[in-house]
Amino acid sequence: MSKRAGATAAVVSVSCPDVAQSPAATAVGPTDAETPLTRSALITGITGQDGSYLAEHLLAQGYEVWGLVRGQANPRVRLVRQLLEEVRLVRGDLLDQGSLISAVERVQPDEVYNLAAISYVPMSWQQAELTGEVTGLGVLRVLEAIRVCSGISASRSPAGRQIRFYQASSSEMFGKVRESPQSEQTPFHPRSPYGVAKAYGHHLTQNYRESYGMFAVSGILFNHESPRRGAEFVTRKVSLGVAKIKLGYERQLRLGNLGASRDWGFAGDYVRAMHMMLGQDVPTDYVVGTGVTHSVGELVELAFGVVGLDWQDHVVTDAAFIRPAEVDRLCANPAKAASELGWKPKIGFEELVTMMVEADLELLSVSGGHADDSFGSDAW
Ligand code: NAP
Ligand code: GDD
Repeated sequence: MSKRAGATAAVVSVSCPDVAQSPAATAVGPTDAETPLTRSALITGITGQDGSYLAEHLLAQGYEVWGLVRGQANPRVRLVRQLLEEVRLVRGDLLDQGSLISAVERVQPDEVYNLAAISYVPMSWQQAELTGEVTGLGVLRVLEAIRVCSGISASRSPAGRQIRFYQASSSEMFGKVRESPQSEQTPFHPRSPYGVAKAYGHHLTQNYRESYGMFAVSGILFNHESPRRGAEFVTRKVSLGVAKIKLGYERQLRLGNLGASRDWGFAGDYVRAMHMMLGQDVPTDYVVGTGVTHSVGELVELAFGVVGLDWQDHVVTDAAFIRPAEVDRLCANPAKAASELGWKPKIGFEELVTMMVEADLELLSVSGGHADDSFGSDAW
């Protein structure tokens, strides 16, 4: 049992840990092979795609992993419990400051990964205020929970070891791109309320690092996908659509802008980069992507090709899926992550698309056409 497990059994009466003076304060770094069992991580967004892959990765490294879950009967909790039996859950909501302080108090994490967000870009126009509250101000609330529980203030900087914080920033912040490929130096021009909220969270993370000396970093991640991707995002919408058409459940797939291009990678590769960022000596931000870009049209052609079908026989473009403002083309320059973290992706675009189509063929074959494991629906 890790050193954290005993502390967490005492539940809510635990007071704010002074991490600078706790045993963790003198513990070795997260990549030290001698003490992996002593480290604990709190993941917000555990019920999402990245939360599940990150939890698996950290468990494999010997971490005690806690996931923040919201709501009194969140249906995704069942999925998390099925997939990740060893993850411990704590209640909390990015809209509720007190719940975040309680969660940090209870878990006493060495690392906090803030993955929770309203992450579906079209929804951010429909619920712009909520997106600002969760995706933007939610970052402030998590940082404040860490700051308060660590006893950090303007006059009291953290000493020794401290809670390390990861913020899930996004290539959507580059928006109407000023240069290509995009690096850590590329200016932001967000094109959606989601992108604006992410830019706020990004700058705030930088500001807490500079103002309070906190170990707080952002990963500017480009699109990353997997068979666990929510069905509302284009890659999964396409892989599910192709599988349904191949198995005879559907005949058409309705899509929006086929000309938009993205730098798509595999989510399992990207969570490794998150962990690496928190293992560095100096906190700094990193762009994470493959450096290769493809259009939605190419994605569609490849996905239908996996099952031997011609996309032109099935794909219909529908104006309902066109966005008020589009991010036309994203392409990462991941040179800093490669040189400083030693990170590079293992799975390329073709392998990713093939993996997703094959996974959905299998899922629909055994479920009779239902994608019950899906983390979302195509609700524009
Ligand atoms: P996702 O599958 O949409 O998961 C979002 C998570 O946020 C869910 O676990 C959701 O929990 C949680 N959440 C939403 N509102 C919350 C609230 N008020 N309080 C607490 N939790 C809340 O997203 P993802 O693809 O895993 O992405 C993870 C993070 O990376 C997000 O911040 C996203 O914006 C960012 N990002 C993603 C990509 C990508 O390509 N995947 C790229 C760049 C950045 P419920 O189950 O309770 O709804
Ligand atoms: N979702 C969707 N559905 N997108 C479509 C469709 C469709 O039917 N047709 C065309 N697209 C185009 C969108 O217009 C967009 O240009 C592109 O496909 C990708 O859309 P999404 O898969 O929804 O992802 P996203 O790029 O908007 O946002 C994702 O990546 C961001 C990082 O760049 C999300 O994961 C964000 O949370 C993340 O920050």
